[in-house]
Amino acid sequence: MIEKNLVDPMDLTKEELDSLMELAEKIIKSPREYADICKGKIMANLFFEPSTRTRLSFESAMLRLGGQVIGFSDLSSSSVIKGESFSDTIRTVSLYSDLLVIRHFKEGAPKYATEHSDVPIINAGDGSHQHPTQTLADIFIIKKAHGEIKDLTIGFCGDLKFGRTVHSLTKTLLKYPNIKFIFISPPELRMPKYIKRLLNEKNAEYIEVESLQELIDKLDILYMTRVQKERFFNEADYVRLKDSYILTTEHLKVAKENLAILHPLPRVNEIDVEVDKDPRAMYFRQARFGMYMRMALIMQILEASDVKY
Ligand code: NCD
Repeated sequence: MIEKNLVDPMDLTKEELDSLMELAEKIIKSPREYADICKGKIMANLFFEPSTRTRLSFESAMLRLGGQVIGFSDLSSSSVIKGESFSDTIRTVSLYSDLLVIRHFKEGAPKYATEHSDVPIINAGDGSHQHPTQTLADIFIIKKAHGEIKDLTIGFCGDLKFGRTVHSLTKTLLKYPNIKFIFISPPELRMPKYIKRLLNEKNAEYIEVESLQELIDKLDILYMTRVQKERFFNEADYVRLKDSYILTTEHLKVAKENLAILHPLPRVNEIDVEVDKDPRAMYFRQARFGMYMRMALIMQILEASDVKY
């Protein structure tokens, strides 16, 4: 049974991840069976930072389970703009709803929110820290693409420093057997030390390289990411680094036939649109599967928090 909150990907055990994937599979097969399961329940989406996919996929997930959704999609339409504290906002909204989904530009905000809420909290992305529900989409598509999550080489490419999705997915993949990591980035955007420390502790195999082409033929998964403009301390650095990698059909000529090309989206420039036609491009399917995983998560979290359907 899943803990009350999902703040960090480490909140979920491998067994819980597997059971979420099983449930998502059942939902895909018989959506009608789940259409009313959260009837009468209200989820609040509190987005202090922009989002298309995460917010709308959470919303769609709850509506598909028969529940209702309240919330706001940017800071300016919340009372925070009047000077209300984050903790008061959380306390108040938790009185109106059964579950809070929070995206915030500050690292640690969803964790802090758990201190002020009586209802469960799901972290929908905190600064450049973690994004555990994107990881649910990611592992589900990996399982779909490769049958099992084991004995795989994954290349993460782009902004590995500020990209919260790569931090969460790397931590989660450490729970699965024999996953090798190739981190492809400019030196300025390398994976943070705390993640590399975790890899070392688990004796996971990883290397850091700069070239996207060099090892592309070794990959089972290529996880492309956007350079995170909003996290840069100065515009000039962003401009210099923003087009470090652009995946084209040319790169893919030597790649494996069963390579899965993933991206959490939104894409800016880092994957040429021509790549979309390649059957190995799975990023839009990845977004769809994310919604089913969020359905499974909402159901299991509401169950665990004693909220009766
Ligand atoms: C990601 C995010 O918000 O971290 N997007 C998403 O949730 N699918 C990736 C990004 O913004 O680059």
